[in-house]
Amino acid sequence: MTGKRPVAILISGRGSNMTALIEAAQAPDYPARIVGVFSNRAAAQGLQTAASHGIATASLAQSAFPDRDAFDQAMTAQLERWGAELVCLAGFMRILSPAFVSHWQGRLINIHPSLLPAYKGLDTHARVLAAGETEHGCTVHFVTPGLDEGPAIAQARVPVLPGDTADTLAARVLVEEHRLYPEALRRLALGDVSF
Ligand code: GRF
Repeated sequence: MTGKRPVAILISGRGSNMTALIEAAQAPDYPARIVGVFSNRAAAQGLQTAASHGIATASLAQSAFPDRDAFDQAMTAQLERWGAELVCLAGFMRILSPAFVSHWQGRLINIHPSLLPAYKGLDTHARVLAAGETEHGCTVHFVTPGLDEGPAIAQARVPVLPGDTADTLAARVLVEEHRLYPEALRRLALGDVSF
C-alpha cells in the first residue's frame, strides 16, 4: 500500500518487540514501515537483528553529550533524518526528557509488561507474583512525561498459573506483547487512536 507511516523504534536490548514490529510491517497491507532502529547502547543485540532485516540503525552514548536534553535533541535529529513520523519504544531503558516527550507527543508509544495503571516501573513479573495476582498482561500506551502513565491504546491479559516463576510469567506475557504491539501500531498509523 502507499502512504505507509514512517516509524522509528528505540531499543536498549534484545529487541524481540522490535522484531515483531519489523515482521508485521513486512505485510503489504500494514499501514507503517520501519525506517530506523536507534539504541542508547551500541552493543544492543536488537541493532544486529534490525540490520539483518536491512533496516538502518544508529546508536549514541550519553557520555558523548553534556546532559539529557542534548542527548535527546541528537536522538530527535537522527529520527527526523530517517523521516520518522511515529516512534515506538521497545525496551528503551532510558528516562526521556520532557522536551523529547513534548516534541513527539501523540506520536510516541511504549509497551509495558503489566496491566497499567497497575505495576508501573521495573520487575513487574516478580512483583505480580509476590502480590499473589491471578492475572497479568501488557499495555501499549501513549508516552507522557510521567513514567508508564500515558493513555492506554491496547491491553492483553494472561493468567498467572500455579508454579509460575518470574521467567515463565514473563515468557507468557511476551507472547502477547509480540501480538499486541503490531496491532496497536497499526491503529496509531491508521489514525484510529490519538492523544
Ligand atoms: C519487554 O518486556 C517490554 O514490555 C519492556 O521491555 C521488554 C523489552 O524486551 N518494555 P525486548 O527487548 O522487546 O525483547
